[in-house]
Amino acid sequence: MIDGRAMQESLLMNVDAESAVLSDAPRREARAAAPARRALLMCAPDYFGVDYIINPWMENQIGQAALPRAKAQWENLRGKLAAHSDIAFVAPTPGLPDMVFTANAGLAIGDTAVVSRFNAKERRPEERLFCEWFEAQGYSIAPWPENVPFEGAGDALLDHARDIVWCGYGWRSGEAAPKHLEKIFGRRAVALRLVDPRFYHLDTCFCPLSGGWLMYYPDAFDIASREAIRAIAPAEKRIEVGEKDALAFACNAVEVAGRVFLNACSDDLRSRLTDAGFTPVVTPLSEFMKAGGAAKCLTLQLPGAASAVTPQG
Ligand code: ARG
Repeated sequence: MIDGRAMQESLLMNVDAESAVLSDAPRREARAAAPARRALLMCAPDYFGVDYIINPWMENQIGQAALPRAKAQWENLRGKLAAHSDIAFVAPTPGLPDMVFTANAGLAIGDTAVVSRFNAKERRPEERLFCEWFEAQGYSIAPWPENVPFEGAGDALLDHARDIVWCGYGWRSGEAAPKHLEKIFGRRAVALRLVDPRFYHLDTCFCPLSGGWLMYYPDAFDIASREAIRAIAPAEKRIEVGEKDALAFACNAVEVAGRVFLNACSDDLRSRLTDAGFTPVVTPLSEFMKAGGAAKCLTLQLPGAASAVTPQG
């Protein structure tokens, strides 16, 4: 069994007014393009907090995240995701307040995983723990060069429709990371330079969706990268969000089976997602925003059937 708490799901879904309002089944197009279930890795926020500053969101936030509220928000997200995906857990560890952001564990495709080489020295102790988790699940760990920072699926997003990996660099992951990923995983890595420090990981401003759709905030990228995005994704598949949605981390979304789980969503973005065939599901994550993360950062997409994954923690 993947999720020991699965019993709570129907209850959680029922009492959640927001998801009740937004729970219209996704339209046929997105449903057809979206994989029915996803396998995700999460880490409970037992030791979450803002204890240091490694991105602009954390400034003036040390000690400000309310742990009980963070736990409730995380549990709400987990419950919503668990209705549509199989969730595995890595054990939280005292002294590692950002470990809850499992997107930064690494990148796993097929039976191979690359473990992050954190740029942020505060997060380096997480590497060994994520490595052990991947090893325990039977992934083969690809060697990664010591001198190339890489912060996992925070900066490397799979685009299932195109079979490519979109890679962000400039703040946390190094410019050389995409080439190494390309070699390891044998699929094209498109390198995008991030230029706004508030959007320091690719997943804070860019989200590939089913059916070739892309939701992203163009101003987070340099001009060449914006052009690269436009050359690959046609206009009719691009959902370009404005600064307000971007600052509410709307692009830091997790899509499962046509549902798009996100911290916040303007009416305009909501109708654009709906027109594209998706169902936005708002799941507030204010406490994690204080650390510079939201829905997507709290999950790592795992390949294949999650039934092969053993829960921990
Ligand atoms: N405080 C964390 C850090 O700066 C937040 C990580 C958010 N993760 C993400 N995938 N964007 O590393």
